[in-house]
Amino acid sequence: MSTRQLSVRRDPGYAGLTSAVGTLPSAWYFDPAHYARELERIWQRHWIYACRAADIGTPRSFRTLSVGQQSILLVRGEDGVARAFHNTCRHRGGALCREHAGRFPPSGIVCPYHAWRYSLRGELLQTSSKVHGDGFEVRDYPLYSLPVTEWNGFLFTALTATPPPFSASFDLPLGRLDDWRLADLAVGHRLEKTIRCNWKVFWENYNECLHCPGVHPRLAQLVPIFGRALLERRDDPAWQDHAEDDDPRYGGGLRAGAESWSMTGKPAGVPFPGISAADRKAGHIYMTSVPSVFIVAHVDYVRVVRLLPLGPEETAMSIEFLFLPETLADQRHDIMNAVEFTDIVMSEDAAICELNQRGLHALAHASGVLMPEEYAIRQFQDWVRAELARP
Ligand code: FES
Ligand SMILES: [Fe+2]
Repeated sequence: MSTRQLSVRRDPGYAGLTSAVGTLPSAWYFDPAHYARELERIWQRHWIYACRAADIGTPRSFRTLSVGQQSILLVRGEDGVARAFHNTCRHRGGALCREHAGRFPPSGIVCPYHAWRYSLRGELLQTSSKVHGDGFEVRDYPLYSLPVTEWNGFLFTALTATPPPFSASFDLPLGRLDDWRLADLAVGHRLEKTIRCNWKVFWENYNECLHCPGVHPRLAQLVPIFGRALLERRDDPAWQDHAEDDDPRYGGGLRAGAESWSMTGKPAGVPFPGISAADRKAGHIYMTSVPSVFIVAHVDYVRVVRLLPLGPEETAMSIEFLFLPETLADQRHDIMNAVEFTDIVMSEDAAICELNQRGLHALAHASGVLMPEEYAIRQFQDWVRAELARP
């Protein structure tokens, strides 16, 4: 190592790791027992993004989602309140809803097995038995209720009665994207993919851009600093040489002439009127809530990427594209200009995550090593370790 490399590595402003650290054990990415532990310690303890409030906008409409083996039912009551329950009947545990989305009849929620009937508030209204035995009280068998938080048009739920404070569930202050009027936006397009990788593989890939030049040639052109395999200015050990340089290769942001993440680099929808010049120049602001979602705000649309674990080596990803209503009302806006670009990038990520997953099985590969640019993976892996250790 040269003297110069030593000195820049002591630079306190440098973001990169200054020593080699090991990754998580490979078995943590495919061992079913370990996966079960992560479901219990991580997925069943944190807020999980379920759907947009508008997806269950009308009374009686519902959605279901699965987190590992847990199925959750979200339903909008006649009183307009969104509630969440385990998708399980209190009689003998039958699943209440087979469908992913729909609307209950005015009579309420009827279990398909023996027709116990519940209100949208989860109260048991009726069993199908001729009489009730001693000790059976209808009021003692409401649906198993789960917490719900509505934030900016997003509905979150949790598989515990005591999730952490919602305000602490994102890596940025909850108001960071207020200029985007998130609550007013509508979903213009959805993409769904099943990725054959452990959920952590996806998040680790999300947390570095060392792969960007090789895996995302198009994105690397649009975001020049990504083309240098870096996420931010201070990820470069020699960042001080260009500390004031406005060139996006050093400072981040989109290439000259581009305004958004799209095939043409042009906005695909009406740009948000209230966002600052700095945010417009950045081209993308990421807000992340592990383990289930990240939100990317662009100049003309907002992308919401949700992950749900399907198994130790399978993860469901859904991507929602949110636009201003005026964009979706006007056919002249080609929102596919944005969707196609993201589809390319996310498909590249999905494919490389699957390759990562495959390689992790090598008998010889007990664990890997993190390089300086992978400091955010270190933070993620430290978080995983800490969550698993929490009693
Ligand atoms: S399991 Fe639902 S009514 Fe029997
Ligand atoms: Fe990527």
